[in-house]
Amino acid sequence: MKKVTAPDILALKGQRKISMVTAYDYPSGQIADEAGVDMILVGDSLGMVVLGYDDTLAVTMDDMLHHTAAVSRGVSRALIVGDMPFMSYQSSVSMAVENAGRFLSRTGARAVKLEGGFPFLEHVRAIVDSGIPVQGHIGLTPQHVARFGGFKAQGKNARSACALVDEALALENAGCFSIVLEAVPSEVAQEIAERLSIPVIGIGAGLHTDGQVLVYHDILGLFDRFVPMFVKKYAQLRGESIAAIKKYVDEVEKCEFPAPANFSNMAESELKLFRTMLKERT
Ligand code: KIV
Repeated sequence: MKKVTAPDILALKGQRKISMVTAYDYPSGQIADEAGVDMILVGDSLGMVVLGYDDTLAVTMDDMLHHTAAVSRGVSRALIVGDMPFMSYQSSVSMAVENAGRFLSRTGARAVKLEGGFPFLEHVRAIVDSGIPVQGHIGLTPQHVARFGGFKAQGKNARSACALVDEALALENAGCFSIVLEAVPSEVAQEIAERLSIPVIGIGAGLHTDGQVLVYHDILGLFDRFVPMFVKKYAQLRGESIAAIKKYVDEVEKCEFPAPANFSNMAESELKLFRTMLKERT
C-alpha cells in the first residue's frame, strides 16, 4: 500500500479536510491506520495518557523512539509524525537536527513535530534542510505549561491573536509542511488557515482549519483524568474495559472460565497411558 507522504498532506490543502490522530503502540497504530486517518502523530501526550505523568515534560527521546517504532510496525498507510519531546531540540540547532534524524532513521516516522514558533525558526530550517519534513505546533503548546501557568487557551485577545498569525506565517516561511494549532479561538484559526498555503491542523481551534487532530485515548473514552472541552468521545472504552475485566474476574471466581472451548484435553489413549505411567512412578 502506498504510504502517505508530507507532500501528499501539503497537496490536500483546499481539496478535503485532513484527519490526524495520536497513537502510542502497535495496536493503536494499527487501529488508527485501518480506520483510514491521513496522519498518525506519536505525540508526547503519551507522557500523560500512557505513562501517567501530570504533563509532558518528563517524556524522553528514548520513550519517543521506543513508542514510535512500535506504532510504525502497525502502520502501512498513514504518515507517521514523531513528536520531539521537551529538551530534545530547544538547546541547539545541531541537537534538534540530530534528534529529528533519529526519528527517521530508527522508527519509521517520516516527519517530526516540534512545539513553538519564533524561537525555533532556525531549528526548523536546519531540520528541513536535512531532508526531514517538519510540522509546527503553536497556540497551547503543552511543553510551555510551566510558563503558561497551566493548560490554557491562547490567542484570546487581539494582540496575542496577531502574534499567532505572525508566528504561523514565520513557520511556513521556515519550511514547515503543516502546523498544529491548539486551543485558540475559531476566528483566529480561520484567519491563519486562510493566510497560510500549508495545511493547518486544529485541536480545539474550531471548524475552519484544514484538518483536525485528537488524542487516541480521548476519542475512545479511555482517559478521564483530564478531558479538555474540545474533546469529543466517540466511544466509552474505559467503562467497557472495566466491565469486561469485572466479568472475567467474576467468571474465574465462579469457575465459568475457562470453558471447554478455551482449553484442550488429551486423547483418551494418551490419558490412560499417562495415568499408568504416573502410577508406576509411585
Ligand atoms: O502530543 C500530542 O498528542 C499533541 C497533539 C495533541 C497535537 O501534540
